[in-house]
Amino acid sequence: MMTKLLFVCLGNICRSPTAEGAMRDLLNRKGLSERFELDSAGTGDWHLGEAPDARAQAACRRAGFDISMLRSRLVREDDFYHFDLILACDKNNLSDLKRLAPADATARIELLMSFAGMPGVEVVPDPYYGSDKDFDRTVAYCQSACNGLLDSL
Ligand code: 4NP
Repeated sequence: MMTKLLFVCLGNICRSPTAEGAMRDLLNRKGLSERFELDSAGTGDWHLGEAPDARAQAACRRAGFDISMLRSRLVREDDFYHFDLILACDKNNLSDLKRLAPADATARIELLMSFAGMPGVEVVPDPYYGSDKDFDRTVAYCQSACNGLLDSL
């Protein structure tokens, strides 16, 4: 049985590709890659087809994994049936997903950071207008959430 996970943010060039990369890296290290299907998507269409933001790529490289091959795409209706769990990076992403979800959607929709076990941290803040430090924090938050998520599955 495959578990199918979709990570979602606004542009699909900073946070959700970082989360996808962090989860892939974790699964590779645990030898569990074959058991999971991973993808990421955005709710906004400004960066469709683009590689992750260079600053996100660099932060992931500093953490030891590569996200350069990922390309931005939009969330689509089929995602709400295909994936088991859709993970929103922030509360706007969560409300957009709930609004887009068909009434008979089968995917669970949750905040990614609800799995992180970091009291008081509910969201992955948008690093787009931030610094390299903010991109490193994005990686660290995603790694914590992915660890907790894997433990919960
Ligand atoms: P992301 O960051 O949602 O983490 O990919 C953003 C990327 C682009 C924009 C906003 C957030 N933008 O406004 O273009």
